[in-house]
Amino acid sequence: MNKIPFNDLRAQYLAQKPDIDAAVARALASGWYILGKETAAFEEAFAAYCQAAGCVGVNSGTDALQLALRAMGVGAGDIVLVPDVTFWATFEAVVNVGASPVTVDVDMVDGGVDFAAFTQAIDDHAPKAAMIAHLYGWGSAQLQAIRQLCKDRGVMLLEDGAQCYGVEFDGKSIYQEAYISTTSFYPAKVLGAAGDGGAVFTNDAALADKVRQLGNHGRTQHYGYGSVGWNSRMDSLQAAFVNLSLDYIEQRLASRRQSADYYRQHLRGLPLRVMEAPAGYLENGYCNVCHLDAPRRATLEAALKAEGIGFGNIYPGAMSAQPGAEGYLRAAVSNGRAAEYCSTVLNLPLFPYMTGAELEIVVAVVKKTLA
Ligand SMILES: Cc1ncc(COP(=O)(O)O)c(C=O)c1O
Repeated sequence: MNKIPFNDLRAQYLAQKPDIDAAVARALASGWYILGKETAAFEEAFAAYCQAAGCVGVNSGTDALQLALRAMGVGAGDIVLVPDVTFWATFEAVVNVGASPVTVDVDMVDGGVDFAAFTQAIDDHAPKAAMIAHLYGWGSAQLQAIRQLCKDRGVMLLEDGAQCYGVEFDGKSIYQEAYISTTSFYPAKVLGAAGDGGAVFTNDAALADKVRQLGNHGRTQHYGYGSVGWNSRMDSLQAAFVNLSLDYIEQRLASRRQSADYYRQHLRGLPLRVMEAPAGYLENGYCNVCHLDAPRRATLEAALKAEGIGFGNIYPGAMSAQPGAEGYLRAAVSNGRAAEYCSTVLNLPLFPYMTGAELEIVVAVVKKTLA
């Protein structure tokens, strides 16, 4: 048992236990377990938060990506740009709709796609769509430029927002100006459910309708099918859990941001780089992200283990280097940075309501090991 886990979801449950227990009991007593009032309420609240014309609750963040791509008309014969540094679901979604991924190298400073590589990938591969992922609690420094380039070049841009609930860009939710975006309610995400869940949101109402149809067997009526989709409906229980979490999310975000900032303040001067949000962003404090050379990273990992402190490596390998990419990867537009980036990343514990004492212990171990 870690003295300080990498992530601890119990604290946020215990902080709101009576309300969660009551909401779950209400949802169970309603006798309506899939979609229903809770999901409709969630979709309305979330659409208002994102200022989106349509929000569709689905079964997971992975399904959200696949449904978005299908609704955009992406399929066999199409090329889709994918960040080389992301979670595998981003890559997988492209393959699962029958299209071919081209990976784009990472920007070492903000962790998003490298803008020059992204531009080159559009020039060289004429993609139908592109995906970017806002991984660490902020987005790319070049977000506006990426969105504009895609508009100018007729490339549909899908933003994987699985980890960016609460991120603000130019004073607005980062989701707000996306053409189409997704999120995940995997429990460890900033806005997590008590199981799997996800959502797709877009300002294009017709696109949202298509997502809704595809995620419910292509239904146009109960036994009438306008397309071939699959079952990706959101559970009422998960929707109830997320709805209730919306009442507490600002407290949780404040706590996360405070911890993210604490690490930045207290790890200065050591031989490691603590990443931070580019100008124009308010981060959501999803995680701490450090980069340090591979030997130091190994030493620090050993010290954290010895002290019973959890840590993460989000994400330890580039998409283009995964054995599972073989046979699917059309091309990798690369300056060779993704491998270096992934081999130097280390994440210290960060979760809502982490205590000052816990943060002090972690920082003390890092200082003792690296100073
Ligand atoms: C960037 C990114 N995209 C997509 C997903 C997939 O979400 P889910 O686990 O809800 O399917 C994740 C989840 O870890 C993620 O981190």
